[in-house]
This record gives sequence, structure tokens and C-alpha cells, in this order.
Amino acid sequence: MKISDYASSEELKRLLQAFITVVGAIALSAVFLFTVVPGLRSANKPAAGPDIPTQGATGWLDPLEYPASQGYQAAPVDPKTVLTPTPELRDQGRALFERQCASCHGAAGKGDGPAAGSLNPLPRNLTSSENWKNGPTLSGIFKTLATGLAGSAMASFDHLPAKDRMALVHLVRSFASFPLPKDDPTSLQSLAKLFAASGGKVPNKIPVSRGLEFLEKEYKEPAPLKLSDSSRKIILDPQRAGRWLSGSTDWRKSPSALASAATANAPGNGFPPSAATLSPSAWAALHAELLRSQTSR
Ligand code: HEC
Repeated sequence: MKISDYASSEELKRLLQAFITVVGAIALSAVFLFTVVPGLRSANKPAAGPDIPTQGATGWLDPLEYPASQGYQAAPVDPKTVLTPTPELRDQGRALFERQCASCHGAAGKGDGPAAGSLNPLPRNLTSSENWKNGPTLSGIFKTLATGLAGSAMASFDHLPAKDRMALVHLVRSFASFPLPKDDPTSLQSLAKLFAASGGKVPNKIPVSRGLEFLEKEYKEPAPLKLSDSSRKIILDPQRAGRWLSGSTDWRKSPSALASAATANAPGNGFPPSAATLSPSAWAALHAELLRSQTSR
């Protein structure tokens, strides 16, 4: 008995084709179910975590567009708990270091992070005892984090709570492959006092774009000066003069103060250089008129 007794070879070919089609369809839907569907399900979920990077006006992830946060007074901490390195503090420090420092200093503190190459001076190799400016003592590193190092890419990190900065200090010291120096008693004491007094103040933080908006609002263009005909002959550019007059107060004191300030800043302030030749009585009249126009606004 042969299979060809049941079905012709034509029939078998068709059956085989139908079988392959069904198996193929099942395989495709399996791929879809296990790879595409789970991705779709989380596609619109917001990213978790406290530091969600935000997009600036350019559409790129902008490091200056961090979310706004309100400043606060951190609670006082027992100095002993932050001045002695503990595994918990170092872990806290490591988490902070990876986010805030490793791009320059490298994950192991060797000064070889991805951003290091372009910097001058180079980020400090924290494993070596060479080249330190504030030094690898507790108070030295704490100072570096508070003020940054002038003339370098090392910025101040005083927006971090003091306890977080101390955690970073302990982590930085754990990188050292040299005998760590001890703090002198006075600087250790002032550090302890700082922690005993308070956990430090955390300032308000706003994205740079918001700061620019505030600045723009604060700077209002003053209206151009309204001048009498005789004064109009003296002042070249009432718009500039108005801006200069509202931006300084020296000239208000007396006609002669106006005369010396106006001629010293001419012609950038809208006054002509020839104003130096005006008579004292002309200055007095102008002074009186400008005082009136500036207070009436
Ligand atoms: C943008 C790059 C950059 C980042 C981010 C950065 N640093 Fe630095 N850091 C530098 C550079 C550059 C120097 C060396 C400056 C110099 O030699 O004047 C430096 C120096 C230091 C020093 C040596 C201080 C001394 O006494 O000489 C310490 C400690 C340090 N950084 C710790 C940190 C810690 C902790 C962080 C994270 C909170 C951090 N840095 C983030 C670039 C960076």
C-alpha cells in the first residue's frame, strides 16, 4: 500500500503547500506576540526615576533643562554619622558618582571618563596622589565640591545636600591607591560644626530657559523720552538717552552730575559729544526737565 493510492501527487503537493502556509502564519504571529506586543504595551509609559531628562527647545536632550525644584533646608545630621566612612555612605556616593562625576573622572576615578579627553586641565586621577589642589582630605574634597576649581571644568556641586557631598567625599577617598592624609583638627571641627548646625541649604533650581524668561520679563524697554523742543536740540537719540537715564542714578544728584555723567558716556548714551560745551544754565534746565520726565513715568 502506497500513499499515492490515497492521493495523487498533485493533491499531495497542494496539501504540503497548505501545511507550510499554516505553519508559517503561526510562526509569524508568535514572533509578533512575543516581541512586538510587549514593546507596544510599554511604549507610552513615562520613564521611571526621579531624574527624567527633559527636552529643550531644540528637541535634543538638553543638560540645562532639568526639571525645576524648590530649595529646602535639609535636616541636621549627626556629624559622626557622616564623617566616618561606612559602606552605606560609599554606596550612596557611588550612585551619585556614576551619575554626576564618572563622565569626566571615569567609573573607577582614574580621570579617564568619556568627556575627559577634550578637557584642559584634565580631570583629576583620583587614584593617584599627584596634582591635588585642595587635597584629598575630607575637608579638602568637601571644599572642592562646594566651590569647584576655578579655571577648570570642575564645577561647584553645592546644589547637592551636604550629606550627599560627604558621601561623594568618602567614595572619592576610596579610590585612592596612596595613604590618605588626615585632616587637621580645626578643619575637621568646622566640618563637624557645619553638619551639626544643619544639613545645609539646598537652593532652588530652575531650568536655564525659565531663568531666561524671568530675565526677559525683568528687563523692560523704557519708553523714549518726551522732550521739549529746546532739549530735543541737545539730545541726539531720545531712545538711547531714555535707556541710559533709567539705568543709572548718578545724574539725578545735580545738573553738574548730569553734565559730567552725560559727557563721559557720550555718544553711546544718546548725548552728542558737543554736549560738553553746554552752559551750566542749559544743563540746569535739562536736568530739571529730565527729572520731571523720569518721575512722571
Ligand atoms: C565636566 C567634567 C567634570 C565633572 C562632571 C566632575 N569633575 Fe571633578 N574635576 C574635573 C577637572 C577638570 C578637575 C581638575 C581641575 C584642575 O586641575 O584644576 C577635577 C578635579 C577634581 C578633584 C580634585 C580636587 C583637588 O583638590 O585637586 C576632585 C576631588 C573631583 N574633581 C571630584 C569630583 C566629583 C566628586 C565629581 C562629581 C560630583 C566631579 N569631580 C565631577 C572635571 C570634572
